[in-house]
Amino acid sequence: MSNINEIITSRTSASNYDATRKLSKAEIAELVALATQAPSAFNLQNWKFIAVESDAAKASLLPLAYSQPKITDAAVTFIICGTLDPHVTLPAALKPTVDAGIITEETYQGWLDAVQNMYGNNPVMARDEAVRSASLAAMTLMLAAQGKGLVSCPMIGFDAAGVAAQLELPATEIPVMMITVGYAAPGNWAKKPRKAVDSVLSFL
Ligand SMILES: Cc1cc2nc3c(=O)[nH]c(=O)nc-3n(C[C@H](O)[C@H](O)[C@H](O)COP(=O)(O)O)c2cc1C
Repeated sequence: MSNINEIITSRTSASNYDATRKLSKAEIAELVALATQAPSAFNLQNWKFIAVESDAAKASLLPLAYSQPKITDAAVTFIICGTLDPHVTLPAALKPTVDAGIITEETYQGWLDAVQNMYGNNPVMARDEAVRSASLAAMTLMLAAQGKGLVSCPMIGFDAAGVAAQLELPATEIPVMMITVGYAAPGNWAKKPRKAVDSVLSFL
């Protein structure tokens, strides 16, 4: 599937997955490579991806996701984390943009200063940014999966603190969303209708 309108409109949240069909590590990495094409403020790229694909890891995750069977049946569950220290990680994240000649050294320094000021002493802002960035990456990943003939489901039905504890995530990484990805099995719901555009859109 390559038409963007078709990819967007055909995506649904799938609960039924063909448990016999796996994805290779290369296919999983390709999905993450596409997800990281998402934008982030200042190109912070304040996200991390954990791909849960082994039977043992799925079994550990299952109770933390309220035993939703798609954790076991989907080829992979991505735990998409946002990171809370963008002011620390930005210099390395942004350096390739300078090296490529896209922004100047002056702009680079200006952005580092701005990010330090915006997030350095503002944990609420840093957390908001982590959730924004991880969510944009999550949506991009779902569309990438759809384009490859896969199905997906975003999930907030999990114990985020429990996941962080079990995976021993650093305090700077928060699980924002899980996304199951795999091949569809029969029985998934059809596309759910949306509100009328004129009820959600206003023009100024
Ligand atoms: C942030 C978020 C969290 C969700 N959590 C779950 C979940 O834990 N389990 C689940 O089955 N579906 C979950 N969903 C899927 C929604 O129910 C679904 O997106 C919504 O009903 C619209 O259907 P559609 O995605 O098929 O268009 C979640 C969706 C979002 C965006």
